[in-house]
Amino acid sequence: MKRSLSGIKPTGNLTLGNYIGALKNFKKYQDDYENFIFIADLHALTLPIDPIELRNNTKDIVAFYIAAGLDPEKTTIFLQSDVSAHSEINTILQNYLYMGELSRMTQFKDKSKKMNENAIGLGLFAYPVLMCGDILLYDADVVPVGEDQKQHVELCRDLVHRFNNRYNKELFKMPEPIIPKVGARIMSLSDPTRKMSKSDPKGDIFLKDDLNIVRKKIMSAVTDLGSDIYFDPVNKPGISNLLQIYASLKEITIKEAEEIFKDCHRYGEFKKAVADVVIEVLTPFQAKYKEVLASGKIDEILNEGARRANYIANKTLIKVKKTVGLYVHK
Ligand code: TYM
Repeated sequence: MKRSLSGIKPTGNLTLGNYIGALKNFKKYQDDYENFIFIADLHALTLPIDPIELRNNTKDIVAFYIAAGLDPEKTTIFLQSDVSAHSEINTILQNYLYMGELSRMTQFKDKSKKMNENAIGLGLFAYPVLMCGDILLYDADVVPVGEDQKQHVELCRDLVHRFNNRYNKELFKMPEPIIPKVGARIMSLSDPTRKMSKSDPKGDIFLKDDLNIVRKKIMSAVTDLGSDIYFDPVNKPGISNLLQIYASLKEITIKEAEEIFKDCHRYGEFKKAVADVVIEVLTPFQAKYKEVLASGKIDEILNEGARRANYIANKTLIKVKKTVGLYVHK
């Protein structure tokens, strides 16, 4: 059976961008693939974070996973830090990725340029190494992610080539990034030329936001000149972003969404339709999220996930150790 793997970092508040670009796609694989979905908590340490916030965010993400339709019976849901093989394979793999390629990673450049050079942690720089390990430990065939993670998965593909060639065997499987056709990069509502990110309260829709606030944020989203509704990210970034949100949540194409609004020449009416669909999706999602948190089942889910994930990851780790010449004894 093919395997799918993905994860989310428990930093900040999850956004509608995370939902559309990643979360809502995770369940697509749980029936036909072996599905591994984890919480990338070690990755969360690459920028300073309050310990209490990190723990709360972690529990939130487990509840979001279930609310998004993941079934712990079918999908292995686990914490990265519960599987020590992630840290061990990281120590090995860091010798096969190079400073030059890591310094070209867009995410590293974006994050580090806002920081004082003396405060950029080594972990932030080496982040993609850990991410490669996450993927390779599970022999993932597909990795569903949003657009901003594509470069990291491509780096992982380079590593697979390099490693397999070096040892002259097909040790690692070649992972395929799966980027959604619609909604791979949801933009901020207050500045549609910027990606919606976990740290912009005005332009973001947070998955935990009160639904009245969600409506207000959408109704006051920055739009463009004119009154026609069609997809043109360069000249109409605001409207195009809202069209993406609408189309993705309705599971239709951008063309179909354009068709629906071709005779609507009022932005206000269009925004109301977008707000309606977002609220339609978030209402049951938030209810389920609260139910999971109150159920007290989080630890049980994580224990079972850790057991299954450790089993697979440790098997891969042993193969890797043997391949590079570490002495694995009985
Ligand atoms: P993270 O936590 O930053 O984001 C989680 C997922 O959400 C997607 N995403 C978006 N998609 C569309 N529009 C947006 N505005 C938007 N913002 C975020 C991201 O592309 C991502 O898929 N490095 C990863 C976590 C990770 C991982 C892995 C993922 C660690 N190891 C192995 C896959 C495989 C991250 O920080 O995602």
